[in-house]
Amino acid sequence: MAIPPACLLCLLLVVLVAIPSQPHALRSSSPFDAALATLQKQIAYDFRAPDLLRRAMTHASYSRENGRALAVLGLAAAQSAAALRALVADHDASASAVSRRARDASEEAACVAAAARVGIPSIVRVAAGTKASAAPVVCGALRALIGAVAVDANSTHVAEEVFWKLHVLTAASAKAAM
Ligand SMILES: *[C@@H]1O[C@H](CO)[C@@H](O)[C@H](O)[C@H]1NC(C)=O
Repeated sequence: MAIPPACLLCLLLVVLVAIPSQPHALRSSSPFDAALATLQKQIAYDFRAPDLLRRAMTHASYSRENGRALAVLGLAAAQSAAALRALVADHDASASAVSRRARDASEEAACVAAAARVGIPSIVRVAAGTKASAAPVVCGALRALIGAVAVDANSTHVAEEVFWKLHVLTAASAKAAM
């Protein structure tokens, strides 16, 4: 039985139209990119160099290009923000009080909570066999995120603002959950 040429044409059209709706087939944006876009909205910061954000959300197990160096900066910025806040609030704060505040700002439980708030455990890229939700992985990624903002903005001040927003919101939601 011969198929009329017009039908062949519509069959072809159906096939052509169907291809782009295949999952991720012809899409330029990956689920990772979509997650990064959402993350930027959540921290209310738009990266000029999105590559920095990609790096920050990449664990050392996944790629040589990862967030480790950014995390060094992010940790320092978080501690600096906490120490500054303590001393601005009280010029007579003791050295041990200031260092306690700096330590609290980089404490693991707090950074795990802040990372979870913005969905980092489901965003960060890790190698098979590495647990993306492990505390060192998510804390490293959160610190790398803070560091990435600092580099992108060329300003630790901007990074500290993002840090406080995450830290304070997390503390508030922890209280609300009690
Ligand atoms: C980064 O900031 C510093 C200090 O404000 C400035 O001197 C430098 O030119 C800036 N670098 C870039 C690449 O914008």
